[in-house]
Amino acid sequence: MRESHIITIAGAGSARVPALVGTLVNYKERFPLSKIIFYDIDNERMGLMEDYDRLVLKCFYPECEVVFTTDEDEAYRETDFVFCQMRVGKTAMRSLDEKIPLRYGLVGQETCGPGGFAYGMRSLGAMKHMVEKVRSYSKDTWILNYTNPAAIVALGLDKMFPEDRRILNLCDQPFSLMKSYAKILGVPQEKLRARYFGLNHFGWFTELKDTDGNDHFDTLRTYLRDHDFQPFNAEQRSKSWLDTYVRVNKYMKFIDEYIPTTYLQYYMFPEEIAAESDPAYTRADESRDSREKEVFEVCAKAKGRDSMEGLEMLTNSVFGNLMVEVAESIAYDLNREFIVLVRNDGIIGNFEPDAIVEVAGTIGKDGAKGYPFGDISPYYKGLMEGQYAYELLTVEAFLEQDYTKALKALILNRSVVDPSKAKAVLDDLMEANRDYWTLK
Ligand code: G6P
Ligand code: MN
Repeated sequence: MRESHIITIAGAGSARVPALVGTLVNYKERFPLSKIIFYDIDNERMGLMEDYDRLVLKCFYPECEVVFTTDEDEAYRETDFVFCQMRVGKTAMRSLDEKIPLRYGLVGQETCGPGGFAYGMRSLGAMKHMVEKVRSYSKDTWILNYTNPAAIVALGLDKMFPEDRRILNLCDQPFSLMKSYAKILGVPQEKLRARYFGLNHFGWFTELKDTDGNDHFDTLRTYLRDHDFQPFNAEQRSKSWLDTYVRVNKYMKFIDEYIPTTYLQYYMFPEEIAAESDPAYTRADESRDSREKEVFEVCAKAKGRDSMEGLEMLTNSVFGNLMVEVAESIAYDLNREFIVLVRNDGIIGNFEPDAIVEVAGTIGKDGAKGYPFGDISPYYKGLMEGQYAYELLTVEAFLEQDYTKALKALILNRSVVDPSKAKAVLDDLMEANRDYWTLK
């Protein structure tokens, strides 16, 4: 029997949490828990799922203590892992991040472009506070961060807490893409091993083999160039996600040597994407009307029940699986392979040592280690240097409250470029975010 752990779910008002709870139940032999602390500053929202979360745990995890709290000291005082997916400003601010750029014909997305910039500025303040709070109690607690935009948050935390080796930033998109590749290739996902390089939401797969030594990369590369790319869970995806996958094909018709992450679309086809977007109905609305609605409906049925009979068990979560598998790999020093976010430090030989890069690597008791990648060629180096400069200037704008750095960041972002649009969108975002951040 493995030793058991205490975890804190920070941002337990997220509609992703009930499926995470289901995943925790499914993994209870592999990653046993003695206590789960659900924490959110919005008790009302967390409360929409509380009965359900409690019922699932009572039925399938009776040995695990359950706490719901809005008190951050209670949340962090004694815990082994913080699973963090807070969304500062909630869906209302996500909606503005997406809609404000569209006023200027710019991409409206929560992690890329001006929306990602504004969200990054909000996340950095709250994440800094969280890390300080957690560390005021313990230097040993692992902070597994899923708060977006991971690229900005990871770089910012590395600047603010450079010695802290127990903060790990995660993104499930490469993990999720590999599930889709496995389905296309007909190879079990556990057998696939990838090589990948880039920045978060800005990277490329360069190799794909299975554990028997078969090389699948060329088959997949040509398949994705010549066929529509469908995610493995296409039937659960809304239209905007399906469109996103198909743009991988579109990009590969031009450049097909590597397979890009879906997020590259925002930097390659920004005008087309902005033109196709409905400024009155963006992804925030779509996810509220689909995933969020479905989750809340299932959860509402848990009220007053004491058994799960006839009630759906939510487990279907790429994010949940990734979080739990990462925690398991740390707790038992498994050194399993993941695509990780780490300080470059020579992993990509000819790229900024201080950048946070996304590469294949392993996770164990000392955290994430990237495999050495070697040098990258001028096209990728050029793209990544522009994007990294955008990330760095965003973090510096936050740390120094520097308006000019923020403006430079947006001009450098491939989805913006035009200085007059950069300034107009920055001014509007700053006004909309006045409760969260400001610049001088
Ligand atoms: C992927 C990304 C995450 C992002 C999520 C958004 O999983 O890797 O960074 O948060 O998509 O999904 P949504 O369905 O909320 O638009
Ligand atoms: Mn991500």
